[in-house]
Amino acid sequence: MFTVYKEKDYASLSRRAAAILSAEIIHNPKAVLGLATGTTPIETYQNLVESYREGLLDFSKISSVNLDEYCNLSPDHPQSYRYFMNYHLFDRVNINKKNTFVPDGMTEGKEAAARYDALIESLGGIDLQVLGIGQNGHIGFNEPGEFIADTHMVTLSESTIKANARLFASPDEVPKSAVTMGLRGILSAKKILLLASGKNKKQALEGALYGPITADLPASVLQLHPKVIVITDCDIALQKR
Ligand code: GLP
Repeated sequence: MFTVYKEKDYASLSRRAAAILSAEIIHNPKAVLGLATGTTPIETYQNLVESYREGLLDFSKISSVNLDEYCNLSPDHPQSYRYFMNYHLFDRVNINKKNTFVPDGMTEGKEAAARYDALIESLGGIDLQVLGIGQNGHIGFNEPGEFIADTHMVTLSESTIKANARLFASPDEVPKSAVTMGLRGILSAKKILLLASGKNKKQALEGALYGPITADLPASVLQLHPKVIVITDCDIALQKR
């Protein structure tokens, strides 16, 4: 079940997303937030940092679990998702870093992945999961082709490597594999906040919202979730479902 907010631009998308996250943090000071990386949520996180500085938000009892991480990038590599989260949010608010979790991209194997799912369960599950969407419809790093339930290692698609190359010095530096929360982990979140910004996301978003549920477009599984808020500045045609 989708509630869709169409915003005029990235700034208003980011304000609304931050408002929804803030409401969660205020209502539930011990919330478990599922967090995403990518360029889309950056201004949302900036807005949360501003609200924290204004004394409106307290992160001291909040926990977070991130969706994904590249394989073989150490946490202090500037393009690692752990570095991203520290830089954009964790180092700027009063969250206890010990309560922030990012999948381990340095330890290969099913055991490490299974530990991540067990960890999420031990936290009591995710209260609000933030998601971006890839141009090919990926969520986290769940790439087109196969629905995988649990946290797993994934070989990144050419299109994802190409899309993410803009953040690296050269395309060769983009890791070829990653660890991602699986679709059961994502769908188990109590609420989902999907953010899509920019013309190049329009097609994937429309497919996710209104197309068939298919592994060719992993975000389409969100149609199975009872509570998804979508915020977009894409000019999508809204349809009744
Ligand atoms: C990346 C991440 C996703 C992210 C997506 C979109 O590859 N693994 O979690 O949502 O691609 O990124 P962006 O917001 O930069 O377009």
